[in-house]
Amino acid sequence: MTKVLEVVDISKYYIHKTGWLPGKKICALEPISFSLERGETLAIMGETGSGKSTIAKLIAGAEVPSQGDIFLNGQRLDPHNYRQRCQHIRMIFQDALRSLNPETSVGAQLAEPLHFNTDWDQEKKTSHVVETLRKVGLLPDHYNFYPHMLSSGQQQRVCIARAIILEPQIIVADEAFVALDPSIRAQIINLMLDLQQDMGISFIFVTHSAEIVKHIADKILIMHHGRLIEFGTTEALIKNPQQELTKNLLHAESKHNVLTHSTIQE
Ligand SMILES: Nc1ncnc2c1ncn2[C@@H]1O[C@H](COP(=O)(O)OP(=O)(O)OP(=O)(O)O)[C@@H](O)[C@H]1O
Ligand SMILES: [Mg+2]
Repeated sequence: MTKVLEVVDISKYYIHKTGWLPGKKICALEPISFSLERGETLAIMGETGSGKSTIAKLIAGAEVPSQGDIFLNGQRLDPHNYRQRCQHIRMIFQDALRSLNPETSVGAQLAEPLHFNTDWDQEKKTSHVVETLRKVGLLPDHYNFYPHMLSSGQQQRVCIARAIILEPQIIVADEAFVALDPSIRAQIINLMLDLQQDMGISFIFVTHSAEIVKHIADKILIMHHGRLIEFGTTEALIKNPQQELTKNLLHAESKHNVLTHSTIQE
């Protein structure tokens, strides 16, 4: 397998500038290292405030690490050069509607990354957008829709379309499916798995759902208070968890019917 991403000793500290205890240093993430192979799916789990979104943001370039390096295909990424990585690493957020521009049509939003990253003419851009809409299960007609005219599942499909439009190597999804109805969630996760197979994309999922993790993840990373406390294959962590927290997170039965076997096999 080919190593697509290598994270070496990245950490994140915040300094409170104002308010109570100005100057106080908050450690969101202690130094961590891990790597991701091409086509692999990594799940990040942990309690609230344990640093999961911080890792996602550092990898996607939305935040700059306090220390450490991130390598994409062996090449060190400049933490201050977002453009360098935005073509290769894309992020999908929890709130699909809020992450879309309400005043721009779906087609125009999807075409935007193509303006900045390709020298294609308008016709080629439009046909690539239509083809991408089809890949995520939407129709060419959706090109002219505005986000508020779409269902929540369709909105998340547009976000996925925007994430794959530049054919990235890695997609980072931060609790991207939590707000969806269970049957829609199963369809969207199946869509992501199909895209992964077709395009060889590596996925990093932040999730609280043991069910989703067991269904899609090759490896799991467990966070606790900003520290990586366990990392391994899904099989190993389910069979032989070394930490009590890992056991609790992975063996917690879903109270919310996150995925059902009938829906996931659609
Ligand atoms: N901009 C910031 N300024 C100060 N502290 C921050 C900032 N962003 C995150 N933190 C702190 O870093 C820690 C980790 O936050 P993070 O968002 O990564 O948690 P999380 O694991 O994603 O939690 P959740 O499951 O609730 O989404 C938290 O204590 C949080 O308060
Ligand atoms: Mg979070």
